Amino acid sequence: MKRIVVSGGAPLNGDIAVSGSKNAALPIIFSCILINGISEIDNLPDIGDTRVALDLLRSFGAVIERRGSITLIDTRRLSYVKPDENLVEKIRASTYLIGSCLSRFGACHLMPFGGCNFSLRPIDMHLSACRSLGASVNDNIILCHSLRGADINFDKPSVGATVNAILLSATATGRTVIRGCAIEPHIDALIDFLNSAGASIMRNGREVEIFGRELHGGKIKVIGDMIESGSYLALGIMTGGKIRTHNSPISDMTSVIDALRELGADVVCENDSISACLNSGNHLRLTATPYPGFPTDLQPIFAPLMAANMGGEICDTVWESRFGYLNVLSSFGVRSSVLGNRATIYKSNLHTASAVCPDLRGGMACLMCALSVEGKSEIYSAETILRGYEDLENKLSAVGAEIKIDN
Ligand code: UD1
Repeated sequence: MKRIVVSGGAPLNGDIAVSGSKNAALPIIFSCILINGISEIDNLPDIGDTRVALDLLRSFGAVIERRGSITLIDTRRLSYVKPDENLVEKIRASTYLIGSCLSRFGACHLMPFGGCNFSLRPIDMHLSACRSLGASVNDNIILCHSLRGADINFDKPSVGATVNAILLSATATGRTVIRGCAIEPHIDALIDFLNSAGASIMRNGREVEIFGRELHGGKIKVIGDMIESGSYLALGIMTGGKIRTHNSPISDMTSVIDALRELGADVVCENDSISACLNSGNHLRLTATPYPGFPTDLQPIFAPLMAANMGGEICDTVWESRFGYLNVLSSFGVRSSVLGNRATIYKSNLHTASAVCPDLRGGMACLMCALSVEGKSEIYSAETILRGYEDLENKLSAVGAEIKIDN
């Protein structure tokens, strides 16, 4: 179990280069299973989640090589084996095995898929997309002889189900139309990658039209991670400093930039860089909704900001009980109350603490508290944070943090 030891209190100032987006990288990695060829992925983040995803691909026979910033994924000689449950339970993106394995092998075992445990995370929409294309879903395995294009109608936007529907139909026979899709930037990144590999996929608003094709090796540069960028901007403000994040996908971050400004921050955007520092803190009301709304992944990051300033309110319409992390933040002095999918965060006096990382983003929220108060704090189970933040110790040390990660 990894532990982060922090000696907090110093304002963090300086520049951080944001890595490739976790939520774009993961569907792209799993989509390589559909491909009979060698794909080139630039800017793949080296984080816990992508390591597990690459290990799952290796278990089917993929050969993976890093050359500088490029990762080469050779998926020419794959064969199906039941995925290793120890890997599957570590990451939520293992649900993408459903679409990719059915497309390539005609089979995929069902098992407890992992990821942050902040809510019930159903897969009924994923399974109904499988059935629409002709697969039969049994208790612990999904099977199909050949997938056939179909109409799929989702009644709410799900990133995971949209990814799986695209994976199922990219090489299926005929035309598929998916309505009610999620439109997060990582959906477009997946579409761009598959199209570079010979797919025929067009998105128009929440509708995606796909003509099944045979795929060859694809090529893409993974977009910058807006959640990482938003996390470091918030961290700079939290410590009374000013962090500038480079490689930020600014046009995808309108809702985040608006929220920082509503909090009272001066936000300056230039090319792909964003900097933020606080003028005068305001009470902040946030509602997390599917893209283009404020991302659910950043609501835990804004909670400590609210506590350290004038308090605020969070409503999460994506995951109605994504507030378990607030119990852990209370050990740093964050005061809050939760009713249904709404949390009220009160202006609080924060202090040092020892805490166990509750989930990926909640863990980053703990780290923000720890770095903002004078004295030593410890965060256990830190590998949960490292699932989503590349090179955390070096990036934070470079902006003035006293931080050490040990085993
Ligand atoms: C969601 C976020 C994503 C974020 C991730 C982790 C959205 C639209 N998606 O992705 O940006 O990175 O959480 O925080 O903001 N649902 C069902 N049945 C299903 C699948 C989903 O009812 O089969 C529901 C979920 O319970 C949830 C909503 O749909 O309320 C969104 O889920 P989904 O987008 O699938 O979640 P993730 O892909 O995990």
